[in-house]
Order: sequence, then structure tokens, then C-alpha cells
Amino acid sequence: MSDLAYSIVTRDLSLWYGEFQALRSVSFKARNGLITALIGPSGCGKTTLLRCFNRVNERYGNVTTTGEIRLLGKNIYDEDVSLIELRKSVGMVFQRPNPLPLTVYENIVFGLHIHSPARLNASALDEAVEQALTDVGLWMDLKDKQKSKATSLSLDQQQKLCIARLLPLKPEIILMDEPCSALDVEATRQVEELMLELAGRYTIIIVTHNMAQAKRVSHECAFMLMGELIEHSRTEDLFIRPLDKRTAEYIEGRFG
Ligand SMILES: Nc1ncnc2c1ncn2[C@@H]1O[C@H](COP(=O)(O)OP(=O)(O)OP(=O)(O)O)[C@@H](O)[C@H]1O
Ligand SMILES: [Mg+2]
Repeated sequence: MSDLAYSIVTRDLSLWYGEFQALRSVSFKARNGLITALIGPSGCGKTTLLRCFNRVNERYGNVTTTGEIRLLGKNIYDEDVSLIELRKSVGMVFQRPNPLPLTVYENIVFGLHIHSPARLNASALDEAVEQALTDVGLWMDLKDKQKSKATSLSLDQQQKLCIARLLPLKPEIILMDEPCSALDVEATRQVEELMLELAGRYTIIIVTHNMAQAKRVSHECAFMLMGELIEHSRTEDLFIRPLDKRTAEYIEGRFG
């Protein structure tokens, strides 16, 4: 299959924090429109790999990267790549919901204000807000609360809002680093349901410690250990017929 079937392709990607090697020759591919879960014990490099895809690791001064990362067919280290455009097409959601200390409405239009060269008129902004809230299933609940502080919402609403605010920028890829770890069971279920609804339109990469979550929500699953990508396959194959002994031991809960 051509690389166009994949939104993200890395080849021999290695990364060092100073002297410490956190990624070891990782060759990873994420299929367009699917949810791919990154699993593995704490410290194996899941977050580091995720942060390579929007070049956030560069913020840490002592990071060295070798190898190749292609997103949507384009090498993200090419000189003509704009970081602003890259971060627009690759949205990120974090462990703890982190809405801006602004209203619901302002949270959603914030990215548009930053990224749109032409100023959008009020009705275009209203429409964008309605669409984004509708897409994450919050419109009915929040249409009369658009002027409320985002930080006053329930945690699951905040996390959905953090997803909603990415959507007006029309991202191709959404990265989620343990997006449910601050949520209770019901809120987790809701966010998982939302992810499944968004799949297809977006390529989603989710880092999770929770293997039950990886099983429920991902189409493909990649198991990492000590900076290496050990195994990557369809989720049901990985959990039912792992090829590598280390994968089998991890999913049986023998370590990590
Ligand atoms: N900014 C940093 N500077 C130095 N070392 C780092 C930095 N960030 C991560 N590391 C180290 O790199 C390794 C991989 O960390 P990473 O956060 O990617 O793991 P993880 O799989 O996401 O772990 P967890 O499941 O605990 O979130 C760890 O040994 C970690 O201590
Ligand atoms: Mg992590």
C-alpha cells in the first residue's frame, strides 16, 4: 500500500534527551482515518513519540532527533514546513483538560483568530462555534452557556471542549495523550464514544496506559518498550495473537 494510505510515517526515528536515548529507530505508520493506540509501560517513550508528530519536543533545548517523519506525505523537517501550519493540521489533547481561562465561545474561536489571515465576521464565528460544539456532542448542553467560563464546566465537558476547539482549524490528525486519565468512568465512556465518532474524518493517535481502553477504542495498536516499537498490528490481533513474547507478557499484565 502506498504511503498515501498513512497520515504519519516515521523511518528509523531516534531521539535523545541530552545523552539519554528515548526513541530507538522507530518506524511507525498510522493509517488515515483510524484510531491508533500507543501502549507500553511508563517511560517507554509514548509521549515522546507523540510529541514528535507536531515537533513539540523541540521546545526542550537538549533534544536531538535523527531519522524521518512524514505527515500527510511531507517531511516535517523540510525547510519550507511552517510550524504554525503543522500545528494547525496536527491538533493535540492532553491528560488534563486545559481550556483557556476564557468563555466557551472564546475557547473555540481562539485558534481561528490566530490562524485566519482574513478576519472572520461574527456570523462565521458563530457558525464555527456551533459546528464544533455539535461535532463533539456539546451543542445542546452548551448552546446557552457559550458565555460561561470554560473552566466552570464538568471535566468531561472541558475535555470535549478541548477537542472541539481544534476542529475549526480543520486538523488532519489529532494526538491525544492519556485524554481520559483525569476523567471518571462515565466521562471516559463519553470521550471514547466521541473519538469513535471523529475517526474517519480525522486520524487519531491515542496514548493510553489502559489496555481495556486501547481495546475498546483503537483500530490499530502499537506496543512500545524502552524506546523501541516492538509490535504494531490490528488491535484485535495484537491482543489475541501477539507476535512478540514481550507484547504477550505486557498485555497479560506481567509488567508495567
Ligand atoms: N524533557 C525530558 N527531558 C529528559 N528526559 C525526558 C524528558 N521527557 C521524557 N524523558 C524521559 O524519556 C523517557 C520516555 O518518556 P515519555 O514521557 O515519552 O514516556 P511515556 O511512555 O509517555 O511514559 P508515561 O507512561 O509515564 O507517560 C523516560 O525515561 C523519561 O524520563
Ligand atoms: Mg506519557
